Amino acid sequence: MKTLTVALPGREYDILIERGLLDQAGERIRAVLPRASKLAVVTDTNVHPLYYDQLKASLTAAGFECWGAVIPAGEESKNAAQLAQLWEGFMEFGLTRTDGVVALGGGVVGDLAGFAAATILRGVALVQIPTTLLAQVDSSVGGKVAVDLKAGKNLAGAFYQPKLVLMDPDVLDTLPLPVFMAGMAEVVKYGCIWDADFFDFLAARPSRGELMVDIEHILYTCCDIKRQVVMDDELDTGLRMILNFGHTLGHAYELAGHYVEWSHGEAVAAGMCAAAKLGVALGITPEELPAKLEDALASLGLPTSISCDAATYAAAVGRDKKGTGADVTVILLDKIGHAVPHKMPKAQLVRLLNSFNKVP
Ligand code: GLY
Repeated sequence: MKTLTVALPGREYDILIERGLLDQAGERIRAVLPRASKLAVVTDTNVHPLYYDQLKASLTAAGFECWGAVIPAGEESKNAAQLAQLWEGFMEFGLTRTDGVVALGGGVVGDLAGFAAATILRGVALVQIPTTLLAQVDSSVGGKVAVDLKAGKNLAGAFYQPKLVLMDPDVLDTLPLPVFMAGMAEVVKYGCIWDADFFDFLAARPSRGELMVDIEHILYTCCDIKRQVVMDDELDTGLRMILNFGHTLGHAYELAGHYVEWSHGEAVAAGMCAAAKLGVALGITPEELPAKLEDALASLGLPTSISCDAATYAAAVGRDKKGTGADVTVILLDKIGHAVPHKMPKAQLVRLLNSFNKVP
């Protein structure tokens, strides 16, 4: 078992990583919620048939009464109406403040169930059991929970840390290949921003089979980096913004593809490549870096550039949460393994992006 502790004042919690951990979920949750009698398990229509019964058997054996809420799979479910349905369901189930919510699924389930847990009865215990690579290395750790609004993604939310994060790498076996590789974009991101040796380790393992041999080490390394960043800057006012590497431009590509053509991970892959080229144009990133990054991402089958017009760049940069007035902070690399936040005028960013990523 690999264990990491996210040590935040008064809200310390463990991330446990082990193959087969889903079958131990009951005893592991009992250890952190000794007084709970009920657990509301939130999952989606993809994950429910695969893992709900297995999880419920373990929870029931540990003495928990379970209720399962199943949301339609997909980003469209991360909305205020689904949130309200969960609140009502929790109350019908008879959830009390000593009970808990378990999020069993990918980022959508984790964010939605997490926000529901943060707000029902002014907050009940939350356990994250992420089932996608993206959720395991990013959204299940660090306490960001949210729903989308018409005006944009993740606009209503909170910082609400879980009591426990359980990661069973075996659940990744049922992920479609493109979904697994989309998660790899965020994995490669950690190498880019923090750990050059980890970047090289990943670049030497371009297939899913090779990556799965070392998956516990990969999950541990990513979560350890995220843990250190979150412990330094839980509320995202400083260091945490380096986790945004590739995301400002990634959001432009998601927007350009109307959120259906490109997954978040694919858009982030192309966004990281654009940020590398941007860094070169600004004299911050070494000239040879973009090709190295593109090779690593392309060998995983991820896109290294996505067409985007000037209006879409402008719209995405304009609504970036890291923007203030006329300026925006983009995350650049001064070498593989080290990120530098760079504040620049939004208009200059859009102009530069257009100069090297024109619509064909
Ligand atoms: N996903 C970026 C963060 O947690 O800050």
